[in-house]
Amino acid sequence: MYYSDEIIEEVRVKNDIVDVISGYVRLQKKGSSYFGLCPFHNEKSPSFSVSRQKQMYYCFGCGAGGNVFTFLMEYENYSFQEALKVLADRAGVTLPETEYSEEARKRAGLKATLLEINKLAAKYYYAQLRQPQGAAGLRYLKDRQLSDDMLRAFGLGYSNKYSDDLYKYLKGKGYKDDLLVKAGLISYDERQGVYDKFWNRVMFPIMDTNNRVVGFGGRVLGDAKPKYLNSPETDIFDKSRNLYGLNRARRSKKPYFLLCEGYMDVISLHQAGFDNAVASLGTALTNGHASLIKRYVNEVYLTYDSDDAGTRAALRALPILRDVGITARIIRMEPYKDPDEFIKNMGAEAFEERIGKARNGFLYSLEVLRKDFDMNTPEGKTDFMKETARRLSGFTEEIERNNYIEAVAKEYHTGYEELKKLVVKMAVETGMAKPASRPKSGRSKDKGKEDGIQKSQKILLTWLIEDEGIFNQISKYIVPEDFSEGICRTVAGLLYEQYEKHDVNPAKIMNYFTDEEEHREVAGLFHTKIRELSTPKEREKALRETVIRVKNHSIEQAGKNWDAADIEGMQKLMKAKSDLQNLRKLHISVN
Ligand code: UTP
Ligand code: MN
Repeated sequence: MYYSDEIIEEVRVKNDIVDVISGYVRLQKKGSSYFGLCPFHNEKSPSFSVSRQKQMYYCFGCGAGGNVFTFLMEYENYSFQEALKVLADRAGVTLPETEYSEEARKRAGLKATLLEINKLAAKYYYAQLRQPQGAAGLRYLKDRQLSDDMLRAFGLGYSNKYSDDLYKYLKGKGYKDDLLVKAGLISYDERQGVYDKFWNRVMFPIMDTNNRVVGFGGRVLGDAKPKYLNSPETDIFDKSRNLYGLNRARRSKKPYFLLCEGYMDVISLHQAGFDNAVASLGTALTNGHASLIKRYVNEVYLTYDSDDAGTRAALRALPILRDVGITARIIRMEPYKDPDEFIKNMGAEAFEERIGKARNGFLYSLEVLRKDFDMNTPEGKTDFMKETARRLSGFTEEIERNNYIEAVAKEYHTGYEELKKLVVKMAVETGMAKPASRPKSGRSKDKGKEDGIQKSQKILLTWLIEDEGIFNQISKYIVPEDFSEGICRTVAGLLYEQYEKHDVNPAKIMNYFTDEEEHREVAGLFHTKIRELSTPKEREKALRETVIRVKNHSIEQAGKNWDAADIEGMQKLMKAKSDLQNLRKLHISVN
């Protein structure tokens, strides 16, 4: 069911965001915005803002953001359609029975269809597990001591022994081959034609935070290889942005997550009452995972496998978590391999004890490091302390650094002052060595630049939306096409249109996007602040530089894609370059 943009907008306008969110979060007025404690992550001082003027919310702590629809989708776990219905009810708007907007349908079409297909497949596998032909699968899961409750809660299923019955089932529902391939459930090769990706495996549906099935993991019943097969990445499944079990863990009352490696670990932990367990599913932890986690908690207990690979993976995860401001601790499970085995052998209470004894991530990493040095010789110990000091110098916040220096000094029987001096010395040395350690490959350098440009574009959008005076001066020089393809450009285009129609309305722009992730990104675009600039002169300078950076990047991109035969294109490029010169002299007045 798709509703027209008009009706969606009517519902939105009739539900003031401050009124709606006040029903969930205590808000206090501060300046032109309202502030409260963010409901999407744990915090002690309010960084969650709601703006009546923009009709948007945004958390400066975790980056959650969107309009009134997004809020209900995130808070109540509603789909867009559900949020729309609830808000329509609230405002007394009657939704038409059927109304289609071609555009909306196309936009949401592919993703929605892939979700539908995955849901059907999950139901199919689920039913198979409970049929005679699923007996082997059910026995396998029972042997692994999973309760019926958990089988249901995680929607476990079974793909049976025929290699094309899911294919036939979904075909019967009217889906074309190419869609089934796009959903990642069907493979194709010339020799065998089309066939199911999964067969004779117990199936673990992977759900997003809204409980929508986005992919699957399938485990063999015995020892064959590969042990697990996983859905490929698709339009709805991005492995670096999904955590297994997050749909449940996000509802946990505990202020931290247990981060483990596998499907079975998550389910075992939930079964034992640890409803805050999630897993990154065989892929190394990414920044995407870390920021996803940061939306909900500030603390993570890593319970990776106790073998070498698990230890290494845990050590690699530490800085990634640190970078987004998550404190990490490490739970040891020796003599067992993973949480699943530990709990089976020792029970939940013993695991709780291990949580209590979890090591601080940094101190743990030193314990591991220590094994590489001969601590019985003065040289060995000195080298170890030097490396330790170098790592300590990585803590940029003084209090934190000093606390760690103190802890390390105590643990390794060294004087606090001496260690502190060594840390300063190593900081200087590492600082001086820095130029050599700059990224060597052109790619990572470009990446940093790319992020810088993104930031500039976001800052510019925030400016444009907040101040019509600025828009009027800038729009002569910057057009939507100057923004990077994707969300930035789309949003800029919509914003320019609204200015033309004299109907500037940021929250309405959001109606254009259907996905929560996109809402979050769009809200971010409108809330990007550069450091406080006190004088108009500073602001003017910053704005001019931002405009130039954005324009310059756009010209560079156009130059890269320019086709030598395209004379008109070249003329445009030349004109843009001379405009850029003028821009450098531009006087923009800001308040
Ligand atoms: P493990 O080998 O630790 O598996 O891999 P596990 O979860 O303990 O599984 P059981 O207990 O033997 O059934 C950890 C995770 O790595 C991914 C899976 O997500 C798995 O849960 N993995 C592992 C794969 O994707 N493919 C594989 O072949 C193996
Ligand atoms: Mn296991």
